Amino acid sequence: MQPSHRSSLVKYAIRDVVLEAKKEEAKGKKVIYLNIGDPAAYDFSPPQCIVDATKEALDGPYKGYAFSLGEPKLREEIGKIENCSSDNVFVTAGLSEGIDHAMKILLDPGDSILLPNPTYPLYSTKAQVLFAQPLYYGCKDGWIPDPDEVRKKLDDATKAIVIINPNNPTGAVYPYNLLKELADIAAEYKLTIIADEVYDHVIFDDVEMHKMKDIAKDCVVFSGNSLSKNFLYPGARIGYMAIHNDVEGGFKDAFTRLCNQRLSVNWEFQFGAIAAYKNGFDFLKPSLDKLRRRRDVICKRIDEIPGLSIFPPQAALYGFVKVDGYNGTDWEFVYDLLRTEGVLVVPGSAFYKENKNELYFRTTLLPDDETLETAMNKLEKFMRERIV
Ligand SMILES: Cc1ncc(COP(=O)(O)O)c(C=O)c1O
Repeated sequence: MQPSHRSSLVKYAIRDVVLEAKKEEAKGKKVIYLNIGDPAAYDFSPPQCIVDATKEALDGPYKGYAFSLGEPKLREEIGKIENCSSDNVFVTAGLSEGIDHAMKILLDPGDSILLPNPTYPLYSTKAQVLFAQPLYYGCKDGWIPDPDEVRKKLDDATKAIVIINPNNPTGAVYPYNLLKELADIAAEYKLTIIADEVYDHVIFDDVEMHKMKDIAKDCVVFSGNSLSKNFLYPGARIGYMAIHNDVEGGFKDAFTRLCNQRLSVNWEFQFGAIAAYKNGFDFLKPSLDKLRRRRDVICKRIDEIPGLSIFPPQAALYGFVKVDGYNGTDWEFVYDLLRTEGVLVVPGSAFYKENKNELYFRTTLLPDDETLETAMNKLEKFMRERIV
């Protein structure tokens, strides 16, 4: 017996590289992990109100399955944020499950879906597992999507477009005019938009965030979010999809079926999420200040290191770094850096597709100043030794 072909298509480099790092650790090497956007792994904490409300719920009558579509009070709170009826809100196990449901609803085998290039890898993997074709639209200066590319890439089988704003891995925040242009294209070609806005409060520069649901009025918009980044609590595994402009209700029915078949999301943490949304986002300010400082340190150091360059991220938790002059692939670069200096980053090709001649890696911005300083020193030493 063999595992399915479908399962062999699942790839997730952000975690796959950790296996290699663990092998190095087992040999006694100290590893600095710059691979994952997990605020809790560094010096960031979620607001205490989430912990308190979850603890209180643990003592409450919430021992059974929760409502499949989500705790009604939480759906109501999210409805206020998304400016929609709570009937349009579906609570999921992190946004990851929301993405999974959305793509299952939107794609049949042979369909295609437009993804940004670079993209968050979950979208490529899910498309492949559904036997759908990912079509990558490129970005221009400052990693801003190019609408001409979107028009060029879409085909008769295209059902949806994914827009990740703010973006992982680039940290770009998209201007209104661009979002409007993308919304118009979606309306013209009857595409559904998956608006992944999981970092919409993790913005550390003075740029405005425009939510897609406020712009795209003539096509269906799946608006996705979670506690993982905006509330620095990925372990809570609470996310949601809000479905906008679904006039006939077919997508909501389909999402309901997918929620029903997996029964429910952890009930107690949904009470934590209610507290989070009621409490709001002011608590984030010190964390954003810290992220801005760390972004500045990383960008300054990277600009000084021969062979490296970066377009400064304005948001999210990452820097997407270009490497010139290294003799090898991005995977070779990542493992070479790990084995030589004990610094773990993610190969750019996990995000950036069809750009075989360019070498990138993604680093997180999260580590404390001392760890960052050490990592950047090691990176500098490595580059000075390797650069040709
Ligand atoms: C762009 C993007 N979307 C979705 C997710 C998934 O988030 P969650 O933890 O809510 O499942 C992530 C996680 O890193 C992400 O970066």
